Amino acid sequence: MGSIDPPKSEDNGSATAAVDLKSIAADGMPPLPAKQSNGTVTEPDAASKRRKASMLPLEVGTRVMCRWRDGKYHPVKVIERRKLGPNGLCDYEYYVHYTEFNRRLDEWVKLEQLDLDSVETVVDEKVEDKVTGLKMTRHQKRKIDETHVEGHEELDAASLREHEEFTKVKNIATIELGRYEIETWYFSPFPPEYNDCSKLYFCEFCLNFMKRKEQLQRHMRKCDLKHPPGDEIYRSGTLSMFEVDGKKNKVYGQNLCYLAKLFLDHKTLYYDVDLFLFYILCECDDRGCHMVGYFSKEKHSEESYNLACILTLPPYQRKGYGKFLIAFSYELSKKEGKVGTPERPLSDLGLLSYKGYWTRVLLDILKKHKGNISIKELSDMTAIKADDILNTLQSLDLIQYRKGQHVICADPKVLDRHLKAAGRGGLEVDVSKLIWTPYREQG
Ligand code: ACO
Ligand code: ZN
Repeated sequence: MGSIDPPKSEDNGSATAAVDLKSIAADGMPPLPAKQSNGTVTEPDAASKRRKASMLPLEVGTRVMCRWRDGKYHPVKVIERRKLGPNGLCDYEYYVHYTEFNRRLDEWVKLEQLDLDSVETVVDEKVEDKVTGLKMTRHQKRKIDETHVEGHEELDAASLREHEEFTKVKNIATIELGRYEIETWYFSPFPPEYNDCSKLYFCEFCLNFMKRKEQLQRHMRKCDLKHPPGDEIYRSGTLSMFEVDGKKNKVYGQNLCYLAKLFLDHKTLYYDVDLFLFYILCECDDRGCHMVGYFSKEKHSEESYNLACILTLPPYQRKGYGKFLIAFSYELSKKEGKVGTPERPLSDLGLLSYKGYWTRVLLDILKKHKGNISIKELSDMTAIKADDILNTLQSLDLIQYRKGQHVICADPKVLDRHLKAAGRGGLEVDVSKLIWTPYREQG
């Protein structure tokens, strides 16, 4: 999978400020802040009831406070609504976006979760946006402003609106994959015949997907794969990496893209999987090699991208597999004798993982190195692109401008502090176990 959204900026450091580290919990879900609805009631009961009834059903675009699974109220915006039954106006469900948080938390809620006293009236006058010069409603402007807070900084206003319109409501709610049932995060453009189902059943080996459990069971009796197709290029203990050529395994590549999009927001499905190699990380046991995550890589990248999309499946997240995949992508770049960088835009979790990786790798070298070292030398040693090195060191305040040039200032105590903050090292790639030659076009 690749992105057809061109990167808007080389910089990724700027997006860091928008991600509140504390706001992302272990399950990838930001814990929502405690903000209670004020709940003061001044109107007489009957008048209040009449006023509330007159609001129903709520319009798409309405802003209101909504009770989340933590029992607290948080501001949301109504994205879509659907009728539940033939009865009254209350019989609607609303698809809401929690405006302070990532879209993976968007969900269908019942009317009783909404605090109708907090409904905001929609102002629809035209306002001019100073930055983009676009005429838009105050409503749209606010939407763009708030989305910027969530880590879409690198998308322009028009692509953002288009992206959100097409993907506003999650289509598949859960998937079954191997021994896991997984709640999905985002919309994924499955073929139209899957429009009517909210759960899909995947074969964990060939990634074919089906509407019904019995279909999957029948498939599993016939499917003779016990690991991803392609070549096993790494095996260390129970961990394996398979390289799958999208040209030789088109259906697998496409299935993987459909699956991955459920957890990747602003990546657009790239149907031409021929142009990509997929690196599938598996945990192996006597039942087979079970996919944990993957990354894709363009066969030829003009922008020196060494990774297009990266995903750790939710049941396996926060265990160090993401860092393993990132480290692996740089090991491949080293073997190619090239520097590399991930395709932009990075998601909030992608940026966190990369920042952590870059910090750890660079500071480990700086700690051990005696004497001066240049960005170029660091880049040659790590295959990390010079821009990413400069941004990382700048964001850690380790670069000073002295006598007309940038110098790296590496006080051991400061390095230790940053290294501690960068978290655990993750699973190591044992390079001696990597058997791989760079891609070469055949024929
Ligand atoms: N909350 C807080 N910090 C987090 C979280 C989280 N939920 N997830 C990752 N991090 C940070 C932490 O610093 C973590 O290190 P630590 O556990 O030592 O503190 C570090 O990132 C990486 O942790 P790993 O366990 O190595 O990474 P993981 O296996 O969870 O995978 C990944 C990271 C791939 C980004 C995963 O979150 C994911 O698949 N997300 C959904 C898809 C996505 O956003 N992909 C990146 C898109 S950008 C691109 O593709 C180029
Ligand atoms: Zn199968």
